[in-house]
Amino acid sequence: MIQIEPARALVGHIGVPGDKSISHRALLLGAVGEAETVVRGFGRSGDTEATLTAVRALGVEVAEDEVDLVRVEGRGLRGLRAPEEPIDCRNSGTLLRLLPGVLAGQEGRFELIGDESLRTRPVRVDEPLVRMGARVETTEGFPPLVVEGGELQGITYELPVASAQLKSAVLLAGLYASGETTVAEPLPTRDHTELLLAQAGVRVRRKPGRATVSGAERLALGEVEVPGDLSAAAPFIVAATLLPGSELYVHDVGLNPTRTGLLDVFARMGARITVFNRRKAGGEPVGDLEVRSAELVATAVEPHEIPRLIDELPLVALAAGCARGETVVGGAAELRLKETDRIETVTTSLRALGVRISASENGFRVRGVPTRPKGGGMASRGDHRLAMLGAIAGIVSREGVRLEGPEAVGVSFPGFFDLLESVTQR
Ligand code: S3P
Repeated sequence: MIQIEPARALVGHIGVPGDKSISHRALLLGAVGEAETVVRGFGRSGDTEATLTAVRALGVEVAEDEVDLVRVEGRGLRGLRAPEEPIDCRNSGTLLRLLPGVLAGQEGRFELIGDESLRTRPVRVDEPLVRMGARVETTEGFPPLVVEGGELQGITYELPVASAQLKSAVLLAGLYASGETTVAEPLPTRDHTELLLAQAGVRVRRKPGRATVSGAERLALGEVEVPGDLSAAAPFIVAATLLPGSELYVHDVGLNPTRTGLLDVFARMGARITVFNRRKAGGEPVGDLEVRSAELVATAVEPHEIPRLIDELPLVALAAGCARGETVVGGAAELRLKETDRIETVTTSLRALGVRISASENGFRVRGVPTRPKGGGMASRGDHRLAMLGAIAGIVSREGVRLEGPEAVGVSFPGFFDLLESVTQR
């Protein structure tokens, strides 16, 4: 338990850890690449540590030259070997969903397990991978699961939900399949897998809402430069917006348009965020952000925007609580399947801190008032995004927040509290 005291403003310059989604993917593709993949700006966290340990267990050598620089000695597309022990995905949904896509093309039997939270999350990838010809056995749709590779055939798969994890698993399995594998998505989701595959020399054919790969002979990523994680920058962006007098710069952050929903929603709400130094790192757009405080007004977050800010919705709820008028978020039922049921945990947590928020089946409704929330107590329940939400709620509150389980931030952002302290003015 820690006490988060209210702050006056956020001032200074920060960089955030490398993008978690890209870091996972770089390790997994590096593992089945030819020769060496160098990952610069690797985002180190509990989740990516799980992937690092997993690829090592599969027989891949990984050198950790520096905290954010790793080198992966690829074993080739079909070169992974089945470990005796189960592979522990810990808290990581991304590892749980993406790894089976790669394992579907290997020889042997692979068991995947996870922590208590992960065991409550649907595996989902079993259905398309089985259709392609792999053997996947889940525990009634949940982990633990067993994957046995086979002769795969390409399929056309319509995603039942807009999930980049599910899309990625099928595209990765498509590398091992005869013929073409096409994934169609109902709404655009993050496309880091497609971009990295293209960088690795795989021909990915893309049309709006569809991506197609063919069976591949070899992969070679070379060097990956991982931009800062916009989802890790988000708590800072929200705090600097809400605290009058703030002036915060976030450097080298990923601005892939499939990820920038928060910036669009915040622009509508009246936030003052300027992007400068736009550039490319590998295939990914990157830039620097200047965030100044602003008075926010309510907005409607539409279902088609949800995949572009899915992990930022808890923070949107807090910001909406301080914005004049009623904010409605709909079409976000996926939140119920994250590390916690985030519709339930965000609404009960924020309500206890004085935010007038109510849950709906697929989102929430917030009646905002342009003052600071009162504060009080909340628990992370082991969910990293809730822990960061509690910290930001605390610094923008009138009376502070007693936060139970702050260590959950380590799942995506181990240095979060130190970085926050370094730019907080009291
Ligand atoms: C991720 C995709 C999203 C996101 C998660 C990371 C990824 O999940 O919530 O934090 O790296 O592909 P879904 O694709 O299941 O919505």
